[in-house]
Amino acid sequence: MKPIKLKDNIYWVGAIDWNIRNFHGYLTQRGTTYNAFLIIDEKITLIDTVKYHLVDEMLERISEIIDPADIDYVISNHVEPDHSGSLPEILAIAKKAAILTTPNGEKGLKAHYKEDWNFQVTKTGEVLNIGKRNLTFVHTPMVHWPDNMVTYLPEEKILFSNDAFGQHIASSERFDDQLPLGIIMEEAQKYYANIVLPFGTQVKKALDALANLELDIIAPSHGIIWRSNLPAILSEYDKWCANITEDKAVIVYDTMWHSTEIIAEKIVSAFENKGYKTRSMGLKDNHISDIMTEVQTAKYICVGSPTLNNNLMPNVASFLTYLRGLAPKNRIGLAFGSYGWSGQSIGQVEQYLKECGFDTLENIRIQYIPDEEQLEKIMDELENKIV
Ligand code: FEO
Repeated sequence: MKPIKLKDNIYWVGAIDWNIRNFHGYLTQRGTTYNAFLIIDEKITLIDTVKYHLVDEMLERISEIIDPADIDYVISNHVEPDHSGSLPEILAIAKKAAILTTPNGEKGLKAHYKEDWNFQVTKTGEVLNIGKRNLTFVHTPMVHWPDNMVTYLPEEKILFSNDAFGQHIASSERFDDQLPLGIIMEEAQKYYANIVLPFGTQVKKALDALANLELDIIAPSHGIIWRSNLPAILSEYDKWCANITEDKAVIVYDTMWHSTEIIAEKIVSAFENKGYKTRSMGLKDNHISDIMTEVQTAKYICVGSPTLNNNLMPNVASFLTYLRGLAPKNRIGLAFGSYGWSGQSIGQVEQYLKECGFDTLENIRIQYIPDEEQLEKIMDELENKIV
């Protein structure tokens, strides 16, 4: 396991999680990495660690460069265990090391690991001299937990951005000019839609705080490191945190005997007739985290469920619960479905959409199997309502 050089005396020493496919409910179809970085200067500094089960991989990479016992500082940009999980092992070896983190970082790390380590709590804007270089800490609460901060190395123009700008990609390639940019961007957007989306305001504040930094490299804590396409990813983040939607409708549904699916097809046609982009996503075949990537830029979110035992279909409820947690703003919702005799599911879907804060169109409900006349009526009425 070799370290990978970012610049002279600055190395990636993280770990690759090739086979992970479920990251707290997020489908990580390309696996992921946990990125940790080692800076060799008068003081030896480790930035973040890796998920606990990959600690040996990180230690092997570090040991190619120095004895891990010689680490002076560990910068903990984020408490979440995918980045802090190896701290107990590292600090058991690097006995003299101090941990630099935010006040919430200290609180969170103490709560997670029940250890009274040598904490040095940082202030935002504080500078730590490590020899020829300086590290500046900028607190970025809620990108993605209250404890987050990023670390900037001005002499090398590197931003260690932790969760921001990350993507879940496992690969031996470490830089954005070594893999197709379309794949990296697709994963960066999925990451934003599923992890960062609720915190758009905080992301905007963080981007404003970082706006005047000179940057050669953005080194996030997951996936590929940005060194050749910084304007592209910064511009995408600007757009994503501004919550810009397109003329696009996502139609999400489950179906028992195809009737709700037939209604979904007519809804797709209505939006297409109005010139909208459409994404029709059945819940038997699409993962909720992939649907969220499409939702992130969609103006309309249409959700259909038949009624099963007086309720929603369970996977529709799962999607709606996930959507309500991520709660994209300024969307228009539409509930629809076929039913047999009671039809509670359509009202339940609509209630969820309202709890997401969406405006809603009048719902569409049809008993048993829709006929051509009903379907034409659905399409005509919906086309008149689409703005
Ligand atoms: Fe990759 Fe919020 O941790």
